[in-house]
Amino acid sequence: MELYLDSANLEHIRQAESLGILSGVTTNPSLLAKEDPKVDVKKRILEIYKLVGGHLSVEVISTETTGMLKEAYDILKWFPEATIKIPMIPAGLSAVRKLSDDGVPTNVTLVFSANQAIAAQNAGASYVSIFMGRLDDISLESARVLEDICQIWEMHEYDSEIIAASIRNPIHLTQAAMAGAHIATVPYNVLMQSLKHPLTDSGLKSFLDDYNRLQTEISKLQPNRIEIVKPNLTKPAPKTNKRGAIKKQGL
Ligand code: E4P
Repeated sequence: MELYLDSANLEHIRQAESLGILSGVTTNPSLLAKEDPKVDVKKRILEIYKLVGGHLSVEVISTETTGMLKEAYDILKWFPEATIKIPMIPAGLSAVRKLSDDGVPTNVTLVFSANQAIAAQNAGASYVSIFMGRLDDISLESARVLEDICQIWEMHEYDSEIIAASIRNPIHLTQAAMAGAHIATVPYNVLMQSLKHPLTDSGLKSFLDDYNRLQTEISKLQPNRIEIVKPNLTKPAPKTNKRGAIKKQGL
């Protein structure tokens, strides 16, 4: 399962990218507004792409097919590598069909059921984003919904990629991988939390403590070992004779 960062925060994106585990970034209007309501969207999107490369989803805000298409083609003018994120509404499906016919990659977002996912696939979506956290918020078992969708994908050999989105905790991440999602798009805090384990921290501490104890024991066993003294380069080296012995000075 590939990992995308679900963020528009440059510092978080920079930090996560430095781990070497990201294949892309997803954004949405809420994530961009969270950073700064007056954010220059074009500038921010291009900055994100420069940092990570790979997949970058940019969401349209129109709710009509013609408006979505206009926005999509405007975005592609200044960012030809964009994956256009389209909401899972009937007008969105028509837009996805047109974009798909034109060879433009699309990510159908706000998908909460198997039937919505199947419709997105049939409209020609490249990616279908299943929102786990928001399903759990209304007491629907997101892992179960995702498992069903992944099973349908396998059974019918669908070619779009399933993105597990609205990830709220590391358990969602594991559940997404177990269900067979192709990608999980993860907020920065969840990504960092998912890397931690108390046994890793305590294990590392004991390895380092043991290493230091070993060094102390070794130095006790070799009390006369020759210390390598670095030459003091600020003072001239003492004069030596041919055999390297230091000549007596001033006597
Ligand atoms: C990503 O594509 C989605 O927009 C995002 O994961 C939604 O997450 P949220 O439900 O936590 O807002």
